[in-house]
Amino acid sequence: MNLLSAVALLGLLLMGTWAQVGPSTTLLSCDSPEAEEAALVAQDYINGQHTHGYKYALNKIEEFKKITKPDGSEVYLMDVELLETKCHVLDPTSVSACPVRPKAEMAVEGDCDVVLSNDAGVFSVVAYKCKSEPESSEELCVGCTHLIPFNDTNAQNLASASLELFNNKTGNATFALLEIGRLASQVVSGGPKLFAEYAIIETNCTSLDEFCVPLNHTTARHGFCLAEGAGLDVAVDCKIFAVPTTVVDPLTNGSVPALPPVVLHAHTAGPGQTPSIHGLRHHKLLKIHDPSVSGLLSESAESAEVLAEPAAPIVKREVPASEMTVSENPNTNTEPQLLMPLCPGKVKHF
Ligand SMILES: *[C@@H]1O[C@H](CO)[C@@H](O)[C@H](O)[C@H]1NC(C)=O
Ligand SMILES: *[C@@H]1O[C@H](CO)[C@@H](O)[C@H](O)[C@H]1NC(C)=O
Ligand SMILES: *[C@@H]1O[C@H](CO)[C@@H](O)[C@H](O)[C@H]1NC(C)=O
Ligand SMILES: *[C@@H]1O[C@H](CO)[C@@H](O)[C@H](O)[C@H]1NC(C)=O
Ligand SMILES: *[C@@H]1O[C@H](CO)[C@@H](O)[C@H](O)[C@H]1NC(C)=O
Ligand SMILES: *[C@@H]1O[C@H](CO)[C@@H](O)[C@H](O)[C@H]1NC(C)=O
Repeated sequence: MNLLSAVALLGLLLMGTWAQVGPSTTLLSCDSPEAEEAALVAQDYINGQHTHGYKYALNKIEEFKKITKPDGSEVYLMDVELLETKCHVLDPTSVSACPVRPKAEMAVEGDCDVVLSNDAGVFSVVAYKCKSEPESSEELCVGCTHLIPFNDTNAQNLASASLELFNNKTGNATFALLEIGRLASQVVSGGPKLFAEYAIIETNCTSLDEFCVPLNHTTARHGFCLAEGAGLDVAVDCKIFAVPTTVVDPLTNGSVPALPPVVLHAHTAGPGQTPSIHGLRHHKLLKIHDPSVSGLLSESAESAEVLAEPAAPIVKREVPASEMTVSENPNTNTEPQLLMPLCPGKVKHF
């Protein structure tokens, strides 16, 4: 065993799963139970703020570190990759039970920088910042599905025609279009096939030929529809969500009255329609920015990060998971310091 590997092994034994970089930043393992817990807190918090489009599920933890400020207080920084699921934000299904959108359907990926505090082992989100983009390219090929803009006239017509079809079938109640979730087109022989996914809200009408107004969000039933059409051939499948009247309080396990459902702000349908502000083809994750921690949230996940006092620039390292690196610590200039391949963590979906 040469000296280098002996030092590396010693470092491994002494330092366990973490490594010290600079005076104030500790890199933490992205695969620890602690990282998983923090990431799920971040996922749930971000979903809680996201009131349109689809819920997002954790795919991968890219980076996890602890910053100790001079006063001894600690803050955690995490970079997580989220994937869009097939559950609309109004769908009561929990994120863990929601299937993520497969790549072939043009998955949407969210990248979020999150600042968390840890109070006696309980993580809370202090601030976060996200950006989201459809993953695959939008090349046209036979059989490929690609997203099309929310204002595409043919796809919008598919949405309204298919909703009329659904309303005609239900007989009792009439639903109005609340928000388009995604519109897609597939190139097949014999012309394009269109797909529309949209959220609906119950109106005060019981039949189609009346002047219908959506009921109050707190009492109306909501649902989500999948429609597809090629020419005049239209098919639709709508799921109406149960209105929960009580929920289980996680602190007592007792039954408590449900809070009013989130008030969705529709961007693609209904009054106040503004299709442009959250992306042309997908519902972007909100960017939430807390000025008091602005130094902790980098402008983009790829840019170099600026730390709180004492300033110590961090160079982002791409270390293959199977390798260990021994490198000179630029801050102390004395002993060689071990850097472990702590991150990224395991990939949950793709
Ligand atoms: C859709 O929106 C884009 C961007 O706002 C605009 O350039 C385009 O003309 C619109 N298309 C239709 C059919 O309204
Ligand atoms: C509604 O259903 C009736 C009877 O099934 C049918 O005659 C009518 O064309 C339908 N209307 C629409 C808009 O689908
Ligand atoms: C109409 O509503 C009643 C009472 O809510 C229900 O029992 C019945 O199944 C409904 N009919 C249809 C066609 O949805
Ligand atoms: C629904 O509400 C609107 C506005 O209040 C009203 O004009 C309309 O007549 C109502 N429709 C029915 C079927 O009650
Ligand atoms: C909806 O219902 C809630 C609770 O009953 C009420 O506070 C709110 O004002 C209602 N909103 C509208 C637009 O009627
Ligand atoms: C509530 O139920 C869950 C799962 O059944 C259990 O893990 C938890 O300890 C319970 N909490 C309380 C306060 O009873």
